[in-house]
Amino acid sequence: MAAQRDAGRAGADGVTAAPAPPTELGVALGARSYPIAIGSGLLDDATRFAAAIRGRHALIVSNEVVAPLYLARLEATLRSAGDAALQGQKRGSPAGMKIDTLLLPDGEAHKTLASAARVFDALAAMKANRDATIVALGGGVIGDLAGFAAACWMRGIAFVQVPTTLLAMVDSSVGGKTAVDLPQGKNLVGAFHQPRAVIADTDTLATLPPRELRAGFAEVIKYGALGDADFFAWLERHADALLARETAALTMMIAHCCRQKAGIVARDETEQGERALLNLGHTFGHAIETAMGYGGLLHGEAVAVGMVLAATLSANLGRAPHADTQRLVGLLDRFGLPTTVPAGLDPDRLIGLMQLDKKNLSGSLRLILWRGIGKADIVPDVDLAAIRAVLAY
Ligand code: NAD
Ligand code: GLY
Repeated sequence: MAAQRDAGRAGADGVTAAPAPPTELGVALGARSYPIAIGSGLLDDATRFAAAIRGRHALIVSNEVVAPLYLARLEATLRSAGDAALQGQKRGSPAGMKIDTLLLPDGEAHKTLASAARVFDALAAMKANRDATIVALGGGVIGDLAGFAAACWMRGIAFVQVPTTLLAMVDSSVGGKTAVDLPQGKNLVGAFHQPRAVIADTDTLATLPPRELRAGFAEVIKYGALGDADFFAWLERHADALLARETAALTMMIAHCCRQKAGIVARDETEQGERALLNLGHTFGHAIETAMGYGGLLHGEAVAVGMVLAATLSANLGRAPHADTQRLVGLLDRFGLPTTVPAGLDPDRLIGLMQLDKKNLSGSLRLILWRGIGKADIVPDVDLAAIRAVLAY
């Protein structure tokens, strides 16, 4: 297991010594390949940003919570990066890079077409052309939204992911899924549009509220649950260190998740097959988020509940041992994540919402189920009565 190899490099107990240089990974997609860097102090790495940004216009998209913490540093870095980039392009004065900022309100409820329109207005105001770059500074909401705007502006411009939540570092910043939500369903309007780089400064996790950190662990546990039983067991062993935000443990875990995701994305960028496995628990989770008006459970929390529902359904259908569901519930509990459907949600309404899920084909429900820890499958035509039974339980 790669996490074990990383652990070996980091120290005898696997988690005690942080590697000094950033972890460098990549997503291999031919001409659209891009680097992923994970480590301390990367927000100040002007050389790295210079290699990632294009053109004369950079728009930083962030929100009102993240900006007071990290915007000034990123702006200063981009200013130096812009100078370097323009000198490299031999395109006139080093001071010629125009950098603007758009701050959006915080939260999933603002991952909307209206917010995307605000990004377009900001790009128009700065007279950004097709060679402009959007820099997304924030969690998955900002990354998905800014990436979507980048996919649309003049039919596609460059963007750079600067994830500041655990969830965004391990999942949403990698792979090029961009989207906004509709009242009818989550991520229903979007595009596959890969970033030019993912630059994850792990120092930013120090300010992440505990509940948001825990929500990120749901997507981490997902990687173990869907295809990596060794990693699942590693998480069981290292939960205390991870919850205590020990840098070495977090860094090797983030790298392990990114490596797993990068491999899947390289093999199946547009989710014709294998990539759908990354949605374990998501069809249930998205329905719960939508039913709660994008304001009840956090995305990661809804995914945690969704994974338990998928595991329970798999066991009820005779596809997996009930004992593995219990082990999953145990690990989610350990990370302080919910494992039951919030009270008051009508199963039939949830099923109605699940029917708008992007994985469905020709109106039939296609779910990601499992055969136990580390073994997930795409299952078409899942029986509605069995789904209703787990939702109602
Ligand atoms: P989020 O972006 O809302 O961030 C969580 C909260 O933490 C917000 O209040 C944010 O302002 C705050 N925050 C961010 N960084 C911070 C920091 N360093 N310090 C203090 N506060 C900080 O939520 P999220 O969990 O990062 O992302 C969830 C979104 O990601 C959902 O919309 C989900 O659909 C999407 N997602 C996308 C993909 C993908 O492949 N594109 C994958 C998984 C999830
Ligand atoms: N988070 C699911 C995916 O990127 O495919």
